[in-house]
Amino acid sequence: MATKENWITFFLEKNQNQVKLIIFVTMILVTGGTGLVGAHLLLHLLENGAEKVRSTYRDAKNLTKTKRLFELYKKEVLFDKIEWILADILDVPALELAFQDVDYVYHCAALISFDPDDEEKLRKVNIEGTANIVNFCIDKKVKKLCHVSSIAALGDLIPVEGKLPIHNPINEQTEWNPEVAHSDYAISKYGAEMEVWRGFQEGLSVVIVNPGIILGPGFWNQGSGILFRTVKKGLSFYTNGSAGYVAITDVVTIMSRLMNSECIGEKYILVAENHNYKDILHYIAGKMGVKKPTLLAGAGLLNLGYRLDWILSTIFQTKRKLSKTSVDSLMSPTVFSSNKIIEELNYSFEDIKNYIDRIIPFYKD
Ligand SMILES: NC(=O)c1ccc[n+]([C@@H]2O[C@H](COP(=O)([O-])OP(=O)(O)OC[C@H]3O[C@@H](n4cnc5c(N)ncnc54)[C@H](OP(=O)(O)O)[C@@H]3O)[C@@H](O)[C@H]2O)c1
Repeated sequence: MATKENWITFFLEKNQNQVKLIIFVTMILVTGGTGLVGAHLLLHLLENGAEKVRSTYRDAKNLTKTKRLFELYKKEVLFDKIEWILADILDVPALELAFQDVDYVYHCAALISFDPDDEEKLRKVNIEGTANIVNFCIDKKVKKLCHVSSIAALGDLIPVEGKLPIHNPINEQTEWNPEVAHSDYAISKYGAEMEVWRGFQEGLSVVIVNPGIILGPGFWNQGSGILFRTVKKGLSFYTNGSAGYVAITDVVTIMSRLMNSECIGEKYILVAENHNYKDILHYIAGKMGVKKPTLLAGAGLLNLGYRLDWILSTIFQTKRKLSKTSVDSLMSPTVFSSNKIIEELNYSFEDIKNYIDRIIPFYKD
């Protein structure tokens, strides 16, 4: 666990028989502080004694999301300690300001989208944006970079006789197979990791985390928050696939512990548990006291759904929610192993259903 001592360096300087006590306070930069991960990380760092924390934002109105999260946890006072810098990660002059006197960087900013029309934007923000962060880290001699990737950027299991070997979970060693169809989001996150490894080759200390679906309160209109909203509205269908889940509290605790550890040049899967969609959707619906999804959406229905989604989005000029690759992943029984981080940090993840129990009251509020 990060302690106050981690963030402050005392330095004694002897000068003309006088001893001066110089205190260097470590400056931490968090990109994407208005998102689920960035906001929770800011809270975690400040709760654990970080003295100087800076974060990037793009639009002042999104600062209220982070502020509300701090209010949710009754930590408004800590919100005022954040130094906010207006900076898009594609805006090099703005990043120059954000990186002034920075010691450690957590790169959480990214675009999450499964709309095939966002392909170019995804590559630009996630790959070029990460390249900018890596270049600044090298140029400003940042001590360590913790990059937030995703399970989407992990490797692919090779089907045996047309079926995925599900008893053989994906781990950090599983190789990315360019022959397999990946979503544009996955490709952009994989490309972002390549930029981080390039930085590592150039001498930057890096560590990468690959979280599964992150559950957390406060950001109900984006990411996994949409899952809770959709269930609440009344969801009829579930699919046969499975996914890896993790609590946001575990994600930020591990990120901060990795930053303060000797772990360098490594990546870690952060998945507390693998669950099939039906199990998780039924559990959330049960806890919310709403109708449970009872109809299985098979391949035929999902393929029809994503074509319909394409037609409707073309007519109404709205964002696409389904694509061929997202349909494939909704049906895929993939499981992930977090053994590496569990062994490295001797870490115990919070039980996912316990965590859902803890955050449902926030949703109701
Ligand atoms: N949520 C999950 O379930 C999940 C799972 C695995 C991995 N991840 C990864 O975790 C990281 C954080 O995700 P999240 O859930 O916190 O996402 P999020 O809630 O959508 O937040 C994304 C953050 O990135 C910022 N951002 C986007 N484009 C930017 C740009 N061009 N320049 C500067 N900032 C930009 C956003 O700023 P605005 O507020 O201005 O939009 C926001 O602060 C991402 O790398 C994501 O790939 C997330």
